[in-house]
Amino acid sequence: MAIQWFPGHMHLTRKAIQERIKDIDVVIELLDARLPGSSANPMLADMTAGKPALKVLNKQDLADPARTAIWLAHFNAQPGTRALGLDASMTTPAKALVEACFALAPTRGGSMAKPMRVLICGIPNVGKSTLINTLKGKRSAKTGDEAGVTKIEQRIVLQDAFYLFDTPGVLWPRIIVAKSGYNLAASGAIGKNAFDEEEVALELLDYLRQHYPAAVEARYKLSGVADMTDEELLAAIGRKRGALQSGGKINLQKAAEIAIHDFRSAVLGRITLETPEQFAQWLAAGQKI
Ligand code: G4P
Repeated sequence: MAIQWFPGHMHLTRKAIQERIKDIDVVIELLDARLPGSSANPMLADMTAGKPALKVLNKQDLADPARTAIWLAHFNAQPGTRALGLDASMTTPAKALVEACFALAPTRGGSMAKPMRVLICGIPNVGKSTLINTLKGKRSAKTGDEAGVTKIEQRIVLQDAFYLFDTPGVLWPRIIVAKSGYNLAASGAIGKNAFDEEEVALELLDYLRQHYPAAVEARYKLSGVADMTDEELLAAIGRKRGALQSGGKINLQKAAEIAIHDFRSAVLGRITLETPEQFAQWLAAGQKI
């Protein structure tokens, strides 16, 4: 069963972004480099159409570097768009972000009369707080206690006449195809109670079997995983990792939790769950939910 996830309150965020967007020069959308298509919220694209866009593929330290390069080229080929990969906990991402914004809106930020105003958006858990904290660093950053800046919105002064605004409200993921729901769940972007771990693990293993068989075989000391069914692979992982119930039966729930954990923590290696072509195919295949 496809994952259903309707957290609500999106209309408040939509309204707040619509009000803010008028004054914004560049929109930064933080994406999860392991699922750049699924971690984008299509509502944001609609609301920010026409604004220069900087796509930041965060958590690139967890993602497949070859696929990150493919996604960056894909986004960089879109008009008015630039893309860069990031590990938000790095101490020096600010320079690259600022430079990319100036490249997108070169007439801004030159004087106090025309400050550069950048809006930073991203679904929960994508690393927005980490990035903002890293950007703030040791600077005595001015934040939301200034007049005209609401509490839910934070303004960070990165340098003179360069203002970064946090999303007003929460930009929840919007699942438009079944595969995206599974990838978001595997990555940790969806509440634990909103999905069944076994189902998500089976989908994850289905993808890994086909695209990263060597990583799975190395991690769990298995062979021939590409020829196994998803269920056989999940059971094999449970057996190898001692996820057993009384009587020696395999605890599939535990095995599923292990597989998901191993993906999230990258002990399986650096893995990306979708390519631009695959994501486009999922959309085109009409698996809309
Ligand atoms: P959010 O504001 O968008 O909701 O995300 P947040 O910064 O809270 O980050 C969510 C989790 O992702 C955190 O892990 C954070 O450390 C991790 N994270 C953020 N950016 C990166 C990155 O570029 N690479 C990696 N590997 N991890 C990143 P957590 O487990 O929830 O907390 P903790 O590890 O900080 O204790």
